[in-house]
Amino acid sequence: MSMRHSVASRPIEASRAAFAEDVAFYLTESPRQLPSRYLYDDLGSSLFEAICRLPWYRVAKIEQALLRAHAASIFGRLPAISTVVELGPGSGEKLLTLMAAAPRPDVTVHLVDVSPAALDQAAIGLATLPSLTLVAHESTYLEGLRAALGRPGAAGGGALVVFLGSNIGNFDPPAVDDFLQGVRDALGAGGALLLGTDLVKPEADLLLAYDDPLGVTAAFNLNLLVRVNRELGGDFDVRQFEHRAIWNARESRVEMHLVSRRPQRVQVKEPGIDITFDAGELIWTESSYKYRAEDLAPLLARAGFRLAGQWLEAGFALTLARAV
Ligand SMILES: C[S@@+](CC[C@H](N)C(=O)[O-])C[C@H]1O[C@@H](n2cnc3c(N)ncnc32)[C@H](O)[C@@H]1O
Repeated sequence: MSMRHSVASRPIEASRAAFAEDVAFYLTESPRQLPSRYLYDDLGSSLFEAICRLPWYRVAKIEQALLRAHAASIFGRLPAISTVVELGPGSGEKLLTLMAAAPRPDVTVHLVDVSPAALDQAAIGLATLPSLTLVAHESTYLEGLRAALGRPGAAGGGALVVFLGSNIGNFDPPAVDDFLQGVRDALGAGGALLLGTDLVKPEADLLLAYDDPLGVTAAFNLNLLVRVNRELGGDFDVRQFEHRAIWNARESRVEMHLVSRRPQRVQVKEPGIDITFDAGELIWTESSYKYRAEDLAPLLARAGFRLAGQWLEAGFALTLARAV
């Protein structure tokens, strides 16, 4: 395997400055928020891998099963693929399942993730397929995709973008259209997108996936405050916040929040903010929108994709689309 880190990798100082700027902006918004991509520092990435092993977080297992069952059929519909870009691969286990079925051994695989720990872990797994060329981009999704594919639209039928784990659910409705349009523009006509999506299911099942009895998801969420304390000089008293997951049926999304247990004051040195929380006040840390299978074709069509295959299993959808 050949491996290099692309020019899209951001220097640590630039990443920290962006984090500080986002914390200053989002934490002082109403409602208070922190963007979900900051959940994935080294510990957050490990906690997410633990979540994937919990019996209640079924998206991980069912997507793996769908990929094992249908990877050959997916590649059968994409005869010219020479470049695969996975956005947010996490541990890369699913990509490994997919790539093990690739008919051509000499594919270039780009990994785009904000988490260096995730990139390292995915690269180690993919090293078991030695003929792949691997390029890691420590970057946000579209920034990394553009770096991976070069001139917008040039990749066309030679490229496949993989976006699994229902990461698409983290975008709210206007942003999801912009994001998919960005993927389509980067690919160009003929390019392919493989999308894994969690579907609407009973509320009790959704809440167990985001508020598990072992408290791993709670630790994953609370770790965001630990990260702010460590990287930006915050003084969050982590024990004075608690994890909460709610199903917002009207918006079709699970929301993760951190709830202040009591009135308290928090300072964060690097952006220089000083805020007071009321008892019960929330910090909104993640939205996970749930779709209906029939919503996916119109969603993709709005961004210039047409359906090229869809596989459904137990409340999850794996959808293959081609850019028109
Ligand atoms: C929910 S995990 C899913 C991982 C994997 N796709 C799976 O299905 O198991 C999300 C992954 O995307 C990365 N991530 C989250 N937001 C991101 C963003 N805006 N840009 C790039 N990577 C991001 C995280 O670091 C993490 O590795």
